[in-house]
Amino acid sequence: MIAYLETKSPAQVNELQTQLEREYELLSGNRMALDLSRGKPAAEQLSLSEGLEQMIDGDYRAADGSDVRNYGNLQGLPEARELGAELLDVPAETVLAGGNSSLSLMHLAVSTAMQPGLWGDTRQWSSAKPIKVLTPVPGYDRHFALCEALGIQMVNIDMTDSGPNMSQARALVEADDCIKGIWCVPKYSNPTGCIYSQETVDEIAQLSNIAAADDFVVLWDNAYAWHDFEFPPTRLTPIYPLAQHHGTENHVVQFASTSKITFAGAGVGFISSGAKVLQTLAQQLSFRTIGPDKVNQLRHARFLKGRLMEHMQAHATLLKPKFDLVLRTLKEELGQWSIASWTEPQGGYFVSLDLQPNLASEVIDMAKQVGLTLTPAGATFPMGKDPKNCNVRIAPTFATLDDLGMAMQVLTLCVKLATVRQFTLTINRKNQG
Ligand SMILES: Cc1ncc(COP(=O)(O)O)c(C=O)c1O
Repeated sequence: MIAYLETKSPAQVNELQTQLEREYELLSGNRMALDLSRGKPAAEQLSLSEGLEQMIDGDYRAADGSDVRNYGNLQGLPEARELGAELLDVPAETVLAGGNSSLSLMHLAVSTAMQPGLWGDTRQWSSAKPIKVLTPVPGYDRHFALCEALGIQMVNIDMTDSGPNMSQARALVEADDCIKGIWCVPKYSNPTGCIYSQETVDEIAQLSNIAAADDFVVLWDNAYAWHDFEFPPTRLTPIYPLAQHHGTENHVVQFASTSKITFAGAGVGFISSGAKVLQTLAQQLSFRTIGPDKVNQLRHARFLKGRLMEHMQAHATLLKPKFDLVLRTLKEELGQWSIASWTEPQGGYFVSLDLQPNLASEVIDMAKQVGLTLTPAGATFPMGKDPKNCNVRIAPTFATLDDLGMAMQVLTLCVKLATVRQFTLTINRKNQG
């Protein structure tokens, strides 16, 4: 990876380091406040959904004639369930439309799987000691935090360009009946941006059939299902028909939300599974709420009906230039050096950057000192522990293009300087030893 530095004489490396140190020094005086840590929509993206405001306009009747201002309809409005079905590429009867967050529905599913169980029988994860789930890494920190909060151990498997490493996944679930599930972000995965291949989706749909545990569950968080940059969009192989084919539809639980389609944190969350699981989840939900916010559901269903693709194209118009800028800068500044590798997603919210081993925390600290906040080192791994300390998650969406340009210059400079410092140190140690 550090082929470029290896072609240089010690004097040339020294000169390069002095020059980079000087550039970094200059940045310190700039008092910047840049942030690439937040996977949030930018203000212009939120403005695309201002039309939500006009969607009620005194008409509170849902398509079934019910008054959405009142209690009821625990599984969500039929038109909201239709919207969830469109997002997840599943039949509407498999969908429950909930409140403002898919993460809370993930908590509902996992805590129900633990106790009393998802199937209305004696199977419950809490019988296992310890309870474990597979976590493809790098992955989404809130999945890890949720497991940690519920006392679930995480077993890392590698993420590849086509999804989780399935030979690792298969071997582990076959051998260990304490492994109860797997986290998946199947399209524009957080943070690598990969899309699971058809073969991977099919293998995942079969996992519960080969698992040693009889209560194995695929947690299919399709948060970026519609977040493409190019149109017509790349289609993810839908898991539901495959699960039906393999008889595992009650062992796959899918999630989505409009958080990154309309208003983040003020959208609608969806959960979908087989009839048995949906019934259990609805019952569990009834202990927590008398019904969801159907006014918001109606507003969303009316706003997005028949124009989801058009709406997502408007997001893409705003996001594509940001991702192009990130990828261009990485290539221009680091490409020739061959000191890092990164993903080139065609959608979603993140770019995943891998540095030389042991450099992620140093680069993130160096960037922080000159005013650039990045996602904390290790955040993309369970318990915050990146075994190679090399992964940096870049979240380009929230910054303005100008700020993003500056932030990427700072980041790539820190990467180059930290790598040269590490290289020099290694050479010096070798010479001394
Ligand atoms: C993979 C993934 N799932 C879920 C969420 C959160 O979704 P919600 O706002 O619906 O809880 C995010 C937010 O960043 C995410 O990246």
